[in-house]
Amino acid sequence: MAYKTIIEPFRIHSVEPLRLTTEEERRSALEDAGRNLFGLHAADVLIDLLTDSGTGAMSRDQWAAIQHGDESYAGSPSWYVFLEAVQELFPFRHVIPTHQGRAAEKILFTALGGPGKVVPNNTHFDTTRANVEFSGAEAVDLPIAAALHPSERHPFKGNVDLDALARLLEERAADVPVVMVTVTNNSGGGQPVSLGNLRGVRELCDRHGVPLFLDACRFAENAWFVHEREEGQARRSVKEIVREFASLADGMTMSAKKDPLANIGGWLACNDDALAARCRTLLVLTEGFPTYGGLAGRDLEAIAQGLREAVDHEYLRYRIRSTAYLGDALLRAGIPIVEPVGGHAVYLDARALLSHIPPLEYPGQVLACELYLAGGVRGCEIGTVMFGRHSDGSESPAAMDLVRLAIPRRTYTQSHIDYVIEVCEEVARRAPTLRGLRIVEEPETLRHFTARFASVPETG
Ligand SMILES: Cc1ncc(COP(=O)(O)O)c(C=O)c1O
Repeated sequence: MAYKTIIEPFRIHSVEPLRLTTEEERRSALEDAGRNLFGLHAADVLIDLLTDSGTGAMSRDQWAAIQHGDESYAGSPSWYVFLEAVQELFPFRHVIPTHQGRAAEKILFTALGGPGKVVPNNTHFDTTRANVEFSGAEAVDLPIAAALHPSERHPFKGNVDLDALARLLEERAADVPVVMVTVTNNSGGGQPVSLGNLRGVRELCDRHGVPLFLDACRFAENAWFVHEREEGQARRSVKEIVREFASLADGMTMSAKKDPLANIGGWLACNDDALAARCRTLLVLTEGFPTYGGLAGRDLEAIAQGLREAVDHEYLRYRIRSTAYLGDALLRAGIPIVEPVGGHAVYLDARALLSHIPPLEYPGQVLACELYLAGGVRGCEIGTVMFGRHSDGSESPAAMDLVRLAIPRRTYTQSHIDYVIEVCEEVARRAPTLRGLRIVEEPETLRHFTARFASVPETG
């Protein structure tokens, strides 16, 4: 008998209290934060869906692994445990540990980027784009057309537009130091990339002699979708699929705060000896010695154990089904979301829900603020605030205005998610009364982290 209830394949071993607040208390906290949810005290948030990054619950075995942490400066046994676990899934010759994903990106694009260069990706995550652009290079997103239509269903909406990539490489291959593919495509809705599409990217890279790197933060969730949806993959294990993804690439960046189930960590890996030597030199400047790279020995142990748990089929089945549970309930309530539901998050389509608010009045930010006010739920705007400002200071609407409700791994139960559904329904009822926002203060890059907002003045 296949029962409908999603059983968390674990039981709870230690608990953290949550603090209940009133709407008045939340209004005051949000005003103090300049209506930027990144500025809140996390203790004032009830259900924190800001990110799935570093917010997962570690397992008993990860906490036990932490006790094995060896803090030797060079050549720690914990480094070898980490290296073996990484290479078991991603058999690249060089593995360079970093304190998180963006540190790997900074090193990679310092080594490969620079003015005149162009880096294609299905969709650059914000820190990836920022690191490419900070090097002076141009970051170009080449998702398939379906990715830009929130309600269009496609099993692999994270795929790269192969025709667009072929055109770019024909025109400018000499300027392309690396082609990146983000699995799953976070900024594009947490959507998977198919094995077939990655093979196509590989072929184009081979034709033009350009290396291919994965931004592989959500590699296990991506492989689960391949296992479930791609023809001929159902009988293969997630681990086999992950290894095939790795075999198609020349290297990778990783944030261990996502699928590897750790609270901190990352790495850069590649097969190119000369590139690895350059990257290790940069690593020593800012991260640390190449056998710990900004991490404690205990972190390396937690990541190694997390990697083993991340590819477990029971865990992945629960993980993907529980994200879909939230998305399906919102669809039933008539709330527009990106379809199909992705791996780590449900993305609300703020532009559709708040169609009376123009993109340059940040409907995603308005919606994210209201979810917090209505129920203490913290999501994250992924839209014009995050992507609308360009390096020349100009501003234009992002392709979509979304609010991401990212689900931390193994952290919340189904009743927490039922509560989130109720809060979303309440906000959908309030939608017609909500007003746009304007930015009153912003930094030059990555403005979504620190910008401050106020309501647009009432007209008429
Ligand atoms: C696709 C993707 N790439 C890179 C990063 C950066 O990783 P980190 O936050 O560990 O610096 C993230 C983080 O959310 C991400 O989702």
